[in-house]
Amino acid sequence: MKTILDLIVEELKPAFTGCGYDEKYIRVTVSNRPDLCEYQCNGAMAAAKAYKKKPIDIANEVVEKTAGSKMFSEINAVMPGFINIRLNPCYLASYVQQVAEDEKLGLNAAKKPETIIIDYGGANVAKPLHVGHLRSAVIGESIKRISRYMGHHVISDVHLGDWGLQMGLIIEELHDRQPDLVYFDPDYTGEYPSEPPFTISELEDIYPAASAKSKVDAAFRERAQQATFKLQSGYAPFHAIWKHIMNVSLKDLKKNYGNLNVSFDLWKGESDAQPYIPGLIEDLQKKGLAYESDGALVVDIAQEGDAKEYPPCIVRKSDGAALYATSDLATIIEREQDFHPDRYIYVVDKRQELHFIQVFRVAKKSGIAKADTELDFIGFGTMNGKDGKPFKTRDGGVLRLQALREQINDEVYKKMMENRDYGEEEAREISAKVGLAALKYGDLSNQASKDYIFDIERFASFEGNTGPYILYTIVRIKSLLAKYKEQGGVLNEDTKLLAPANESETGVYLTLSRFADMMETAYKELAPHKICQYIYELSESFNHFYHETKILLEEDEKRKASYIKLLSLVQKVLESCIDLLGFEAPDKM
Ligand code: ARG
Repeated sequence: MKTILDLIVEELKPAFTGCGYDEKYIRVTVSNRPDLCEYQCNGAMAAAKAYKKKPIDIANEVVEKTAGSKMFSEINAVMPGFINIRLNPCYLASYVQQVAEDEKLGLNAAKKPETIIIDYGGANVAKPLHVGHLRSAVIGESIKRISRYMGHHVISDVHLGDWGLQMGLIIEELHDRQPDLVYFDPDYTGEYPSEPPFTISELEDIYPAASAKSKVDAAFRERAQQATFKLQSGYAPFHAIWKHIMNVSLKDLKKNYGNLNVSFDLWKGESDAQPYIPGLIEDLQKKGLAYESDGALVVDIAQEGDAKEYPPCIVRKSDGAALYATSDLATIIEREQDFHPDRYIYVVDKRQELHFIQVFRVAKKSGIAKADTELDFIGFGTMNGKDGKPFKTRDGGVLRLQALREQINDEVYKKMMENRDYGEEEAREISAKVGLAALKYGDLSNQASKDYIFDIERFASFEGNTGPYILYTIVRIKSLLAKYKEQGGVLNEDTKLLAPANESETGVYLTLSRFADMMETAYKELAPHKICQYIYELSESFNHFYHETKILLEEDEKRKASYIKLLSLVQKVLESCIDLLGFEAPDKM
């Protein structure tokens, strides 16, 4: 199905060419002056230069040629050469009718579906999640869903940090706490226990303690580094501890991500890339790309035309250790082998931009990634507190996801109880759903690359550009539809939408007609905030219509049926959109 913008362009083509102007100049956008028109064509301005004419003259000619169009109810040329357009309400209704009948709401799935790897989440095993990980999970999950909705074959990978110094720190802290464990007995030759020597809450205590100790105790730090090195060289007892750490943490991480409505196809990590590192280094050396510099092995990445100087990418430290970049390059080798992706999308804190420039350039230079493989880095900004500094919890500590969720849920709970009475259990259940929407929408409604201020009261508000406001609109529709049914109404699939009869109803139709165009942009720009913007507009236009219209009291049965159909379409579009953002609506709130 064609999008409404495409259809308007098509309608204008014969007018442009009929006047002797190339159709390539036609440019149609949604009007930014809805008081004057609905759509706007700026083609005359672009054509003016080429044909050395005044834009307004071209616009006038084109407008004249459109006479008799069934698509427009109003089209006129205004200074300096805009063409302002209003759609014929009958045409608009029939287009929205097609949207309603289309399984994908008028969206065209990708003609050539691509295989896309999305790398997000990126939690570090056994370390507390920080705000950056929260943003990565929320934004990445939405980009995954959007890409999938567009018809691509998407594989999501959490890419855990599971191979670093934190492992050595935990091993040595465990050693200090429980020196008698078999893992620390060099003479032990038996099997290692299948039960982990710690619970998740013990593990949560072990890492911060070890990390703090390493900062004041140099000998301890040295031991931890040694332990990390031993683990990475395959020392069996430490590998057995590592396995326990992984198993215990993974269970907890899966639960945490699950609570955020975030899921992954692959639960791989840096450790999975290790077997590919020796081959990678050899390959880089053989190709003459890697060379020794101060004992380290590096690859130059500077390119002609660079606006600034990029340092070389270090792939091996002077002590022989692999680095973050090495592991990301090795991971690309693994992914190429397993999936042959057409595209990679990494959703990571924007402060890691240089790292990804280095990795991408080495991957391309060396042929690890094919020349036409798209490598994208979506770098997101920082979530700040009201003081403008990186967000901290009330006690000033690092973020505990659970604590953050509870704060938001409590805020929503308070708001809900202000207005109505709920049973305790029900209220808690609803506030968890609404709280998640508040959190995710609060994040996703900002352009990802920007920093934003985490403001619980604002995010949890039922009014304004917030998640709860969107949910409130959906709940309102659900309850209207339920009332309609109670009154004996039936939702008839065959009902045809009538032409909108007034300004507020037209507003809803127009916003609905833009869904496919909006989705195309949201995918092209990998920008969930476009969806937020859109559903906010749809909710606003719907609520305006709702306040102006006596929907259930309408006496004309045909019109009432059309209203009902419109309501369920708005609901369907809103629910599809919030699903793409990664949250859902309750039945009441
Ligand atoms: N674990 C990393 C961190 O906490 C994020 C991983 C991002 N993904 C990647 N492929 N490097 O900073």
